[in-house]
Amino acid sequence: MKALGLLLALTISSVYGVDRNNFKTCDQSGFCKRLRPFKPEKSQYSLNLDTVLVHGNVLSAEVVTVDTGAEKRTILWHYTLRLSALVDGTFRVELDESDPLYPRYRTQLALNGEPKPDSLKLVSNENGRLTLTNNQGHKVVVTAEPLKIEFLDRSGEVAVVLNENSQLLVEPLREDENNWSENFKSHHDSKPRGNEAVSLDVSFLDAAQVYGIPEHTDGFALSTTSSGEPYRLYNLDVFEYELLSRMALYGAIPFMFAHGPKRSAGVFWHNSAETWIDVVNYADSTVVSSLVNLVTGGQKRRVDVRFMSESGVLDIFVMLGDTPADVFRQYTKLTGTTPLPPKSSLAYHQSRWNYVDEADVRGVDENFDAHDIPLDYIWLDIEYTDHKKYFTWDQEKFPHPSEMVANLTAKGRKMVVIVDPHVKREAGYFVHEDAIDNGYYVKDKDGKVYEGWCWPGSSSYMDFFDPVVSKYYSERYRYENFPGTSKDVHIWNDMNEPSVFNGPEITMPKDCRHYKTPQDGHEGLASYWEHRHVHNEYGLWNIKSTHEGMLNRDNGKYRPFILTRSTFAGTQRYAAVWTGDNMAEWGFLAASISMCLSLATAGISFCGSDVGGFFKYPEAELITRWYQAGAYQPFFRAHSHIETKRHEPWLYEPATTALIRDANRRRYALIDFWYTLFYELSVDGLPVMRPLLQEYPKEQETYTIDNEYLLGDKLLVRPVTEAGVTSVKVYLPGAESHTLWYDPDTYQQYQATGYINQPVTLSKIPVYQRGGTIIPRKERVRRSSVLMADDPYTLVVALDANKTAHGTLYIDDGETYEYRNNRYIYAKITYEPNLMTYTFVNERASYPTRSWLERIVIAGIKTPPKTAKLHQGDRQVALQMTLHRGNDVLVVRKPSASMAQPWTITFTY
Ligand code: GLC
Repeated sequence: MKALGLLLALTISSVYGVDRNNFKTCDQSGFCKRLRPFKPEKSQYSLNLDTVLVHGNVLSAEVVTVDTGAEKRTILWHYTLRLSALVDGTFRVELDESDPLYPRYRTQLALNGEPKPDSLKLVSNENGRLTLTNNQGHKVVVTAEPLKIEFLDRSGEVAVVLNENSQLLVEPLREDENNWSENFKSHHDSKPRGNEAVSLDVSFLDAAQVYGIPEHTDGFALSTTSSGEPYRLYNLDVFEYELLSRMALYGAIPFMFAHGPKRSAGVFWHNSAETWIDVVNYADSTVVSSLVNLVTGGQKRRVDVRFMSESGVLDIFVMLGDTPADVFRQYTKLTGTTPLPPKSSLAYHQSRWNYVDEADVRGVDENFDAHDIPLDYIWLDIEYTDHKKYFTWDQEKFPHPSEMVANLTAKGRKMVVIVDPHVKREAGYFVHEDAIDNGYYVKDKDGKVYEGWCWPGSSSYMDFFDPVVSKYYSERYRYENFPGTSKDVHIWNDMNEPSVFNGPEITMPKDCRHYKTPQDGHEGLASYWEHRHVHNEYGLWNIKSTHEGMLNRDNGKYRPFILTRSTFAGTQRYAAVWTGDNMAEWGFLAASISMCLSLATAGISFCGSDVGGFFKYPEAELITRWYQAGAYQPFFRAHSHIETKRHEPWLYEPATTALIRDANRRRYALIDFWYTLFYELSVDGLPVMRPLLQEYPKEQETYTIDNEYLLGDKLLVRPVTEAGVTSVKVYLPGAESHTLWYDPDTYQQYQATGYINQPVTLSKIPVYQRGGTIIPRKERVRRSSVLMADDPYTLVVALDANKTAHGTLYIDDGETYEYRNNRYIYAKITYEPNLMTYTFVNERASYPTRSWLERIVIAGIKTPPKTAKLHQGDRQVALQMTLHRGNDVLVVRKPSASMAQPWTITFTY
């Protein structure tokens, strides 16, 4: 029996699983192999003190490399260093060749405009060291020879050091007879510009852990890489990707933060080329103690990392936060925040590859009603098109797209259709013909149109880097160019790594050519960018163009919703993200949390995974748990592979369908809470889905927790991601501040004392509301979120140890930009034993909502008030209350206040 089991396991694992041979290891990636062993005793880079100039917020100086081996000091190469002070405790360090053979690529789209300057003062220049300060009390100490840059926190302690380990390197471009080319499997990379890699080591002092650099499956806190592969950032379409891996995936965001009990700090490696990152955490047991002693003098709280990129200039931002929240704010100041999405996009989405025709779509839509499960969006995958020609419909299966969409919108539902960036090379297909006629495609290494293979078969790829192409592409989304679509049809941009089935590592060859803004005197190699330079931002250009198109189709009236698979720094400005082609396995359900947490800290809060898993069939327990988890993750969509057995909620036993219904209804009841969180995200850039350490930075237990998280600072969520369990361990943070947590199902109160054992039945979702918070709910769940817009609110007040609580509520029309003209309500809600208030933060803003206050639930109340009176305008009403002694809950019934105006409630005892 055992042998049979083993055989079965082997067969299954050989059916599913990544084919690692398709993807490079560090050793197979020329520059990683070349750079990784580079650990000189002393850095060759030194700063020429005679050239130092401080002007405005920038220090500039010449940096040279010197041949440290030679007897006489011989200069090898000249570079220009720029160190800038930016607002909010951020610094930028750039190092480029002073006179490069060709301009080196500077990543174009990640930053949300020019970063704002702070002041930079040179305080001293002595003994070969420059000391500078910004306005915030941070210091930078630059040691000239060998070059080293230390960043000091406000208390004067060194927080971050660059080039401490001498791994700074900017390979100069050279004209050389050498053949630089490389091969991978049957693919040849001509590398016409030769070697042009950049590398830098960064030391985080007093850091317990480092985090970030999504997208990987390796857990939220990053691990020491000395005995394995480095983390890799290179957007790739990895078929059947594996868990606990540092392999590259669809997304590549070169943002990392470090955290310890003393402070947090972050770095943003501003580079869009293939990048590998090594990590050494001196507290890890894998790091030998002799090394710990040698490097840190026995001090274990330190993490050294090292970035290596194939090309570009060296450009790094250093963020000196005091706390993780500071660093997240600093990072989104640079790369932008997520704009307010359509409210409906925070509700539930039903997708499958594919809903095959209009009747199928109708059936899915009706089944959600028949089973009383709320739904906002139905998705169409690639098969809706006429033979994978995007911006067209399959005339047989989808002959009446406008009617189909109208049928959905009549119920307050909407649709998302997929549009991939590859273009079918077929004579007569207008997009292809236009692209050929006008030269819109990416070119191959010889300047001919590049042809690859993707869903449509032979395909070419839009070169979005050319503004003309980007404009052309964005105009395809105009209603007249894409008949059947309306403001309620949103867009899914997939395969935008870009995925090329027959390309090296399933993507575009690195020596393909992209548009470069023409510059006088730039010919030959200097007249285009290679794909190598821009690869990790290709998808960002794709969604930017889509975003513009969707805005313009309505003259900027409606908010677009876009889903993207490939990500880079700045993606959050345009699109939501999902974790790609996962599997219906428990491990992938668990990974959805750590992967989305990592993305959230890197600016992308709007994240989710394919609920139920993409490949394979989820059994009842797994799909139940997945819906329960998804209901508490920002992007909530079920999706599955074309060859899997259908698994829409009603296709399970009624008991399972009921559990799924319950999970979805919980999401809808909290839809205004979600919307408020996303409004706040659009303002402050702080993650919606938060690691515990963001709110409890001193609590070391939280540093490695990635199976639970917070929504805002209010709800703690610990989804069940294990099969067959009857209880789970939940960490309740905040002991020091005497935090209370409430189970919203029972209002049972918990003192934060670290881990508790939470019994779970199949219907239990471990969620806890923090004492001291107020959360808005809508108890009348309807077919779609849009239909709930005017429904009344329940406010759940969970008292803290001081018997107080506060919360916020955001209300607007849910889909337009009218909120920018003050058509919204952002209300602050406070509760004290004698007084509850609902007031508008911006008093000039208002929204004529018809919603009213139906109920207030106050949890944790020991001494109930005798009377309660509502005051709104001239109205004063005595209110009825019911006390539930068993769990100390007081319900204030039907205050019936309008939510369009401020109100107060006074209590007497
Ligand atoms: C990719 C996507 C998947 C989609 C499929 C067909 O595999 O990741 O979600 O269903 O392409 O478009």
